[in-house]
Amino acid sequence: MRPAPFALERYFARYEFSAPYLLSSSDCDGLPMREVLAMADDECRALWNDLRLGYTESLGLPQLRGEIAGMYEGATADDVITGAPEELIFVAMNALLRPGDRVVCTYPGYQSLYEIARAIGCIVDLWQPREEDGWRFDPADLATMLRPGTRLVVVNFPHNPTGALPTREEYAAAITAARDAGARAFSDEMYRLLELDPGDRLPSACEVEPEALSLSGMSKVFGMAGLRIGWVVTRDAAALQEMATFKDYTTICSSAPSEVLALIGLRARTALVERHRARIARNLAALEAFVARHDERFALAPPRAGSVCLLRLKDGHASDFCRRLVDKAGIMLLPTSVFQFGDDHVRVGLGRENMPDVLARLEAVLPEL
Ligand SMILES: Cc1ncc(COP(=O)(O)O)c(C=O)c1O
Repeated sequence: MRPAPFALERYFARYEFSAPYLLSSSDCDGLPMREVLAMADDECRALWNDLRLGYTESLGLPQLRGEIAGMYEGATADDVITGAPEELIFVAMNALLRPGDRVVCTYPGYQSLYEIARAIGCIVDLWQPREEDGWRFDPADLATMLRPGTRLVVVNFPHNPTGALPTREEYAAAITAARDAGARAFSDEMYRLLELDPGDRLPSACEVEPEALSLSGMSKVFGMAGLRIGWVVTRDAAALQEMATFKDYTTICSSAPSEVLALIGLRARTALVERHRARIARNLAALEAFVARHDERFALAPPRAGSVCLLRLKDGHASDFCRRLVDKAGIMLLPTSVFQFGDDHVRVGLGRENMPDVLARLEAVLPEL
């Protein structure tokens, strides 16, 4: 199998470490090691100081799996497999799908959520939101795509790149429709916990459906992308076993230091999530004020959750705008052409501390663009 190139990752590879100002990152700022180690409780400090750099358990450090399970109602450590988030998408799709299966996936989106299925030989239908409706994903549209052969419904809420989040009723309708069609849900919840209003938080798919798989990880919400630690939680023991068997051909096990650092981060999660939610709210307010000042050029359907949103360029030509912006001011913005989703929008990242400063730099060069 040879998946098509991952357009967004290729774009980031070109600019992420050369452009001085990033305005499209989807993660919250990476935490400094000093701060992470200072957050450690006695048990974690001992784990860190006594750590040996051997292989680790392939499903993950037991204490880490236990901590993760504690975040999901009804889950135990036995329901958890850890790995890099991107790896776990690859592993899950390979474990669950066969050529000819039908898959429905939210779109636009993180490319591997549909590209791996395509590379396996599945038929993929794309469930798209409506911008004029605040990027709402209509469960009625999903229902029209479900067929008897649909094996998997892949959803990503809070949604990258729009920041869309269904209501509880819409979410329940989508999950029920998938179940009634005999399809399993794969729910990418990498941005869950970053709701602008925590009252909007959806249940995790693995909490409401015994066969569903929920993906999350340290990268976005907790500001620890460099650990490359994520997890899938499911109450379907056979599916978890299939994933474990496949993962023997990817990384086998995670990095030992990363597992301990992830455990430290998760035990401090309340403070980290609050800090990041507050930053995102502040950055969104700055973006909305910017759009109000330049409404002849830009429009925003505000996000409800997550750390990214889509800004519309009323004149289109987003790729050209982004190229001129990086050349002129060293500011990297991501055009939606990298999502194969037209060329009228750019993705704005809301999770970085310097976002208002970078936005001010953009505003200063705007007349020249
Ligand atoms: C929706 C979604 N899922 C999964 C991932 C993969 O996360 P990671 O880069 O930590 O492997 C990303 C990263 O951008 C993402 O946006």
